[in-house]
Amino acid sequence: MARILITSALPYINGIKHLGNLVGSQLPSDAYARYMRARGHEVMFICATDEHGTPAELAAGKAGVPVAEYCADMWQVQKDLAEGFRLSFDFFGRSSSKRNRELTQHLAGKLADAGLIEEVSEKQVYSRADARYLPDRYIEGTCPNCGSENARGDQCENCTKQLNPTDLINPRSAISGSTELEVRETKHLYLRQSAMRERLDKWIDSQKGWPLLTTSIAKKWLHDGDGLRDRGITRDLDWGVPVKRGSEEWPGMEGKVFYVWFDAPIEYIAATAEWADANGQDDASWQRWWREDKGALDVHYVQFMGKDNVPFHTLSFPATLMGSGEPWKLVDFIKSYNWLTYEGGKFSTSAGRGIFMDQALDILPSDYWRWWLLSNAPESSDSNFTWESFQGGVNKDLADVLGNFVSRVTKFCRSKFGEQVPEGGEYGAAEAKVTAEIAKRLTIYQDNMQAIELRKAAADLRAIWVMGNEYLQTAAPWSIYKQSPEDAAAIVRFALNLIRLYGVLSAPFIPDAAKAILTAVNAEGAGWPDDLDLALSALPPGHAFTTPDVLFAKLSDERREELEAQFAGE
Ligand code: MF3
Ligand code: ZN
Repeated sequence: MARILITSALPYINGIKHLGNLVGSQLPSDAYARYMRARGHEVMFICATDEHGTPAELAAGKAGVPVAEYCADMWQVQKDLAEGFRLSFDFFGRSSSKRNRELTQHLAGKLADAGLIEEVSEKQVYSRADARYLPDRYIEGTCPNCGSENARGDQCENCTKQLNPTDLINPRSAISGSTELEVRETKHLYLRQSAMRERLDKWIDSQKGWPLLTTSIAKKWLHDGDGLRDRGITRDLDWGVPVKRGSEEWPGMEGKVFYVWFDAPIEYIAATAEWADANGQDDASWQRWWREDKGALDVHYVQFMGKDNVPFHTLSFPATLMGSGEPWKLVDFIKSYNWLTYEGGKFSTSAGRGIFMDQALDILPSDYWRWWLLSNAPESSDSNFTWESFQGGVNKDLADVLGNFVSRVTKFCRSKFGEQVPEGGEYGAAEAKVTAEIAKRLTIYQDNMQAIELRKAAADLRAIWVMGNEYLQTAAPWSIYKQSPEDAAAIVRFALNLIRLYGVLSAPFIPDAAKAILTAVNAEGAGWPDDLDLALSALPPGHAFTTPDVLFAKLSDERREELEAQFAGE
C-alpha cells in the first residue's frame, strides 16, 4: 500500500468555473484519487479556493459586495458544485484561511533568513483615473512576446509568458479602461528565483517520466533567459495575506500583501492542516503528508493543473519550498492539461459562451458530464466540446453500451429466473474466452490509470463494456433458453457478474452509476478484481438483485438542438 498525496490546482474564487476549468484539474484528479483508493492505497486529496489577488477584488467589486463576504459565499457555491460533480476531496479549503496566512508568513520569513528575498524599489503602474496602483490583472495590454492584445499584467494567457505590468504594450486599466497611466516607485519583496536556478534545474532533471507537456514548459522557463528572473511576491492591495516575516512585522511593508501566486500553492499544505483541524487531528497527522522529517518521505505527490499553471508549479512553488531550507515534500509528478474548446472556439465567461458547472448539473446528472469530459480529456492536445460529440458519448457509450447491457441482463433474468442469480451449469469456453480478453484489457486499463492517461483509460473501460455486450449477443441466452434453461442460466450468471465487475471498474469515471449498479446487484462492498476469475464468480447462485431503473437516458436530437441554441452565446 502506497501513500498518495493528490492536489488539484485551486480554482479562482471569482465565479463559477466552466467545464474547461473542470476538466483541467479537479475532475481528472478526482478520477485518479478514486482509482487509487479503489486499489487500496492511502490517499489524501486536497483542493481549495484561490481567494486572493486581483481576480477576487475585481469580481467582488462587480458583484457589489465586500471581498471577504464575496469569497465566503463563492467558496460555498464552489464547494456545493464540487459535491454536485462528486469530486471526492478529503478537504476543500480556502487560501484565505488562518492556516495559510500563518504558513505563508512563516515561509516568507524562512526565505528571508536564507537570503532569498530582496527588497526592491520598483516601478508600479499607477492609474490616476482609478486612484490606485494597477498590479496584475488590474492592467491589460498587448503581450510583448506574442502580440496578443489581451495579455494581463501578470501573465499572457495566449503564450503563457509571465509578465510584469510594465512589460505590457499599450497598457490600459482593467477597471476603468483608462490609458492615462503613470509609473511610480514603491518598495516590494522579490523572491530570488535566479539564485536557485541550479537547484531547480537539477531537481527537474532528476524527475523521471514527467509528461512532455510539463517538462517542456518547465525547461523553457528555466533556460529562456528571463524565465527564471526574480519575481515580486508582494502587492499594493488590501485583500491578501499581510506581509510579515514569520510572526514579526516587516519594516517598510506595512499595508502590503503577498502576491496571490505566492500564497496560493502554499494552501495545498495549509488546506491539509485545515483538514486536520476540521477532523480534530493533531499537526502530526497532516505533517506526515508534507514534512520529510515527519514521515512524508514515502509519500508520492501528484499535482493536476492546466498548462498555464505549469511555470508556477515547476519553478516558483518549488523555489519557495526548497528555499525555505525546511524539508517540505516536493511534487513527484505533475499532470498538466491542454485546453478544452467549446464548439471550436474559446469558453468565454464574459460572452456567456460555453457551459458552466452549475448549468451543466441543471441539464443532466454529473456522470454524463464526467464521462464525456474524461473520455475526451485534453491530454495529448486540445480537445473540443460539441453538443454532437456529447450526445454521441451519452447515447452510444453510456446508454447503448453500458446501460443497455445492465438493463438487458437484469430484465431477462427477472423474467425467466426471478430477481436472483440463477442456478445453472458451469461456465464454458465462451466465458473463458471473454474473461481472458477482459483480463488483457484490464491490465492496460490499470496501466493507463496508473500513468494518468485518463482518456486512454476511458477507451479501455468502454472496450471492456463492449466485450460484455458482444459476449451476450453471441451467447444469446434468450434463444438458448428454450432448449436448455440450464445453459441460459450459466450465461446470465456470468453476465450478472460482469455487471458487478463494471460497477467496480467504472467508479472512477461515473461514480453515481457505478454505485447504482453495485446497489442493484447487491454488492456495494465489491473490491477491485485482483483475481478476475474469482471476481466473475463472486455473485453465487441464489444471490438476490434488483432490476435497476434506466441508468442513462438518451439525449434526443431535438433536445440537443435546443441546448446548442441556448449556449451559443451572444
Ligand atoms: N487559481 C489558479 C488558476 O486558476 C490556480 C492556482 S493553483 C495554486 O489558474 F497552486 F496556486 F494554488
Ligand atoms: Zn503572449
